[in-house]
This record gives sequence, structure tokens and C-alpha cells, in this order.
Amino acid sequence: MTAIDLGKRCVAELVQRTNLDGDLVEAIVYGTVVPSVIAPNIAREVSLLPMLSKGCQAYTVSRACASANQAITDAADQIVLGHHDVIIAGGAESLSNVPILHSRTMSEKLVAFSRAKGATQQLRIAGSIRPRDFVPITPAIAEPSTGETMGQSAEKMAKINHIPREEQDQFALRSHRLAAVGTDDGRLTAEIMPVYVPPRYETALTKDNGIRVDTSIEQLRGLKPVFDRRYGSVTAGNSSPLTDGASAVLLMSEERAAVLGYTPLAFIRSYAYAALDPGEQLLMGPVLAAPVALKRAGLTLGDMDLIEMHEAFAAQVLCNLEGFVSREWAARAGFVTPVGEVDRSKLNVMGGSIAIGHPFGATGARILTTLTNELVRRGGEFGLMTVCAAGGMGHAMVIERA
Ligand SMILES: CC(C)(COP(=O)(O)OP(=O)(O)OC[C@H]1O[C@@H](n2cnc3c(N)ncnc32)[C@H](O)[C@@H]1OP(=O)(O)O)[C@@H](O)C(=O)NCCC(=O)NCCS
Repeated sequence: MTAIDLGKRCVAELVQRTNLDGDLVEAIVYGTVVPSVIAPNIAREVSLLPMLSKGCQAYTVSRACASANQAITDAADQIVLGHHDVIIAGGAESLSNVPILHSRTMSEKLVAFSRAKGATQQLRIAGSIRPRDFVPITPAIAEPSTGETMGQSAEKMAKINHIPREEQDQFALRSHRLAAVGTDDGRLTAEIMPVYVPPRYETALTKDNGIRVDTSIEQLRGLKPVFDRRYGSVTAGNSSPLTDGASAVLLMSEERAAVLGYTPLAFIRSYAYAALDPGEQLLMGPVLAAPVALKRAGLTLGDMDLIEMHEAFAAQVLCNLEGFVSREWAARAGFVTPVGEVDRSKLNVMGGSIAIGHPFGATGARILTTLTNELVRRGGEFGLMTVCAAGGMGHAMVIERA
């Protein structure tokens, strides 16, 4: 299924589950990282769902793995500005449908062929096509500025911060175990929707298929490093897998929610974005964004009842956690005191992207959904979420239970 297909199904489900009159949705803000070349504004395609008004505004945002977060904060800002009252935000990604491109030479030959005058010219161009021209170009999960892949960055960060392989594998195991519990007891299951799978639409997918209920520390220990085969520690087991998925959240102004009779789950208390040199420690953005979001909220880590951190790699989460207690990182973010030590019993309590998967453009709203629902369930007051993203960027948001 394409990202557009996934996004449409997810937004339609949200409208239905919230018993919302589709005509009330004033805008769709949606994120995606690898857009369709044919339909680059995924938000508009999603907004053309039959139950929404054709006058619904729709725009697509991109901030790498924090794209759904960007969609959510853009939507929240529009509400705060008073431009809109009801917005759906989220994102979708279909990593099994990435566009495969022709090489530049092949593209030039194809364009020349289409413009050729007469069969002789066409034959001459067709005759110039060599087998190597057919080699496709697929989008890489690599930094355009440095050429380093995410996995290589995680590997580098693990080495700089001395994160042992065993700790990474234990963290990955924890992710799968907690996600399996959340699926069994229905908390995670309640956040997903069954999807009938093409081409025949006869079978429905009712569970996230990344969660490995039967994985063990022995199996994880046995996997070979992928990004530095000789000296590395990052494996397929302690990385988030490439995943398809979509997510959506409903945002309203407090006043409109009251008028429509909706009880809000939570308020956005604050948020922040940060960035660092992608050639340095690519996935440390959350360490710079979290203290700013906490300061803007007027709160500290100690006030947080739950913390959700996107798990791009176990190594990245463990590096971020170390960054939170580091004076140097605090100083880089403009603070004297570090964020502090995260209480692991409050962290990713239903697992994270390592187990559940990471459809780039969708992850942010998936994490916010889990954080909000669990905060409500536990009767907590505040929750912190963080997401690292390509380009050395990071996001943090503090939410408050309504
Ligand atoms: C790491 C990565 C390259 C692995 O890709 P892959 O090789 O296609 O992964 P697979 O799922 O096939 O796993 C490889 C093997 O490990 C095994 N494996 C993976 N996770 C496991 C687990 N938790 N327990 C046991 N075995 C596991 C698989 O069964 C498979 O075994 P097989 O070869 O015997 O079939 C890919 O997932 C990746 O690029 N991830 C990072 C994505 C990324 O950069 N995201 C951006 C972050 S912001």
C-alpha cells in the first residue's frame, strides 16, 4: 500500500472512532519523508477523503523522522494563532514503495527519446542505451551532506559514548517484551486499526508485525553487526526495522472541544526543535531539544510521569540518555544543569520503534498517541516525548493531561 493509501485509511478511522463530523475538519497537516513523485502533497490526497469537506486545507511537511511531530506542532500553532479550531495531523510512510529512479544519463536519454523527431532519431537514441544505464537509483537512508547512513551514525555514537553491545541488545529485548505485553493486554492494540491487505483484500492485518514475541537475548547476541561488520555493535536486532505505517491525531482548540462536547485527553504544554552538525553525532538532537521544551513548560524531568523516546537504534537511545546527564551537553543546549537521569520505569513503557517499527513520517504521532493514552490511563500529569531525526535534528514535546 502506498503512503497515501495508509494515510487515508488511518485518518478515516480517526474520524470514525472520534465520531467527528468530517465537515468540521478545517485542515489536514501531514508528514512524509519519501514523498510520491506523482502526488507530493500527501496531505491533500488524504484530505480528499469522502467524509471530509473539499474546502479542507491540506499541506505536507517534512522534517525527516520528526515529520509527524512537525505536522502536530504546525497544527497546534495554527490553532493557537486562531486560524483554525479543528485539525488532523500525522504522517505516513511506505518504505516498501519507495520511488526507484533512473540514472541521470538514462533520464536524459528518455527525455531525448520523447522529444525525438522521427523514427531514425528515436532508433539512434535507443541504440545508445547501455546496460549500465538501467541500474536504478534508490533513495538511501544516508545524509546527503556527509554520505553517512543512520546506522553508521548510530555505530559511531555507540563508539564515542562507549555503549556496549550487551546494553543495546538488552534494550532491544526490553522494547519487544514491553510491546508484546502492550499488544496482549490490548493497550497497543487499541491504538491500531485492522487493515485489509491488497491485492485481494481478503486477509486483515490486525497486529503490528514487527514485534517479535519470541526473541531472546541469546538470539539478539548472535546477530552480526550490520554497519561495521568487524568492530561494530549495531545489528538488525537493536535497530528499528524499515516499516510501512500511518498515524493521525485530532487537535482542537479548548473552546471548540467544549462546544462540540469533546473531552480532551491532553494539552500540548510546550515543544522545541534543535539541530547539530550532522557530521558529528547525528542522533543527539533530543538532548538539545528536551531541556528547551522542559524550560518552556516551566517543568523539570522530575515532573514527568512518563517519557517516550523514539528508538531509532538502541545505541541512539542509550547515547541520548547519557547526554541527558552530561554537563557538556547541557552547556551546548545553553543550560548549567543537565536534564537529569531518566527513570527507566517511566521510559517507553509499551516498547518503542525497535519493536513496533519506524515508518519515518508516521512515528511522531504514533508516539504521541501512546504517551497520551498511557498518561491518561495512569492518571499522570505530565509526559515528555523526544524524537531524533536525520540532518542532526531533534524534537521534544511536553504534554499535560487534561
Ligand atoms: C538494520 C537493517 C539494515 C536490517 O535490515 P534487514 O537485514 O533487512 O533486517 P531483517 O529484518 O531481515 O533482519 C536480519 C536478520 O536478523 C534477524 N533479526 C532481526 N531482529 C531480530 C530479533 N529481535 N531477534 C532475533 N532475530 C532478529 C532476522 O530474523 C533476520 O534473520 P535471517 O537473516 O535469518 O532472516 C534495517 O532494518 C535498517 O536499515 N534499519 C535502520 C533503519 C533506519 O536507519 N532508520 C532511521 C532511524 S531514524
